[in-house]
Amino acid sequence: MQIGIPAEIRGGETRVAATPETVKKFTAQGFHTVLVQSGAGAGASIPDDAYQAAGATIVANAAELYGQSQIVLKVRGPDPAELEMMRKDAVLLGLLAPHRIEGIEELARHGLTAFAMEKLPRISRAQSMDVLSSQANIAGYKAVLMAANVYQKFFPMLMTAAGTVKAARVLVLGAGVAGLQAIATAKRLGAVIEAFDVRPAAKEQVESLGAKFVEVPLSEEEKAQAETAGGYAREMSDDYKRRQGELVHQRAAAADVIITTALIPGRPAPVLIKEETVRAMKPGSVIVDMAVEAGGNCPLSELDKIVVKHGVHLVGIANLPGLVAADSSALYARNLMNFLNLMLDAKTGEFNINREDEIIAGTLVCADGEVVKKA
Ligand code: NAI
Repeated sequence: MQIGIPAEIRGGETRVAATPETVKKFTAQGFHTVLVQSGAGAGASIPDDAYQAAGATIVANAAELYGQSQIVLKVRGPDPAELEMMRKDAVLLGLLAPHRIEGIEELARHGLTAFAMEKLPRISRAQSMDVLSSQANIAGYKAVLMAANVYQKFFPMLMTAAGTVKAARVLVLGAGVAGLQAIATAKRLGAVIEAFDVRPAAKEQVESLGAKFVEVPLSEEEKAQAETAGGYAREMSDDYKRRQGELVHQRAAAADVIITTALIPGRPAPVLIKEETVRAMKPGSVIVDMAVEAGGNCPLSELDKIVVKHGVHLVGIANLPGLVAADSSALYARNLMNFLNLMLDAKTGEFNINREDEIIAGTLVCADGEVVKKA
C-alpha cells in the first residue's frame, strides 16, 4: 500500500501523523511505501531527511501526496480543499471530530473509508492505539507547566533565609487521563492538590497520586448514573450541578491554580467555574481551561488566548499537545501505526477491514459512500 503523510494545515497544528520510527516499521518488510509531504514534520522538529533516511519518499506538495496515497494518516480531519485532492478510494485515519456529523457526511460523499480515532473503544486491547489518552496525558502535563509559567508565585513550599514561601494550592476538575497527569505533574512541582470528578471510580486514582478527592455526596441513583459502560462521564442532574457548583465555588476560592479538564463526549463541556466563582478567587490566581474547545468549563475563558478577568489569569489554549509537538507526534504516530496494523496482514501486507473486530467497527465512521450507523 502507499501510505501518505501530509503536512497539517490547520492553524497552529504542529503535530504530524508519522515519525521516522513508524515510517521505518511500515517500510521494513517491503510491502508498503510511505510518502511524506515535504515539511510535514517541521512543526515537530523532524526534517525531511530524517523521514528519507527511515525509508520514506518525500513529495513536493499536497496534491501529489493525496493523488498517490491509498491510506492517509492525518492528525486533523481534512478541510474541503484537502478533501478535494484525496483519492475517492482512500482510507483515512485521524482525529475526525465524529460528533460533527456534517463533517463525516462530507467524507462519505467523497467516497472515503474513514476511521475517527476518537471513537476507539476504551478496552485494554486498544490501549496502544488510544490517541485520546496519549494526547490528553501530554495536555495534562503541559497545562500545569502553562499554569506555573503564568502564576506569579512558586509551586513548592520553600524555606529560605528570607522567609518561608507557601506551596501553591492546585484544584483539578475532572480526573480522567488529563486530570490525573495534571495531578502527577503538579505534585512533582511541590503543589498541594485537590481534585473532583463525577465518576466515583476516580477517587482511588486521585488519592493514589497523593491528592485529596473532594466529594460531592452522590445518591445511589446518581452513582449508577455518573459513568457510562464505556467509562465516560454522563451529564448530571440539575440538583447535582447545584451541589457541585457550591462545593467548587468554595474550593476555588481557596485555590491558587485551577486546571479544568471536564468533558462529556458529544456534548458541550459542563460549566464548573461560573463568573461569580472567578470573582471570589484570589488576585493572581490561574485557571487553565482544558475544555475550552468544547465550550469551556469556565465561560470567561477565551479560545487560544490568555486573558485576565477579575484579577484571575485564564489560559484557554486549546491545542496543548501541539506545544509538545515532538513527543505528542511520536505517541500519536505509534497509536495510528498500531491501529493500522490491525488491518495490514504482517505476512502478506494485504489490507483488510474486518468489521467483526470491535476496535475497527467502533472507529469506522464511513465506508462505501455512507456514514456508518452506530448501534
Ligand atoms: P474525558 O476527557 O471524556 O473527561 C475528563 C474527565 O472529566 C473525566 O474523568 C470525566 O469523568 C470528568 N467529568 C465530566 N463531567 C464532569 C463534571 N461535571 N464534574 C467533574 N468531572 C467531570 O475522559 P478521559 O480522560 O478520556 O477518560 C474517560 C474514562 O476512560 C476514564 O474512566 C478513564 O480512566 C477511562 N480510560 C480507559 C482506558 C482503557 O481502559 N483503555 C484508556 C483511557 C481512559
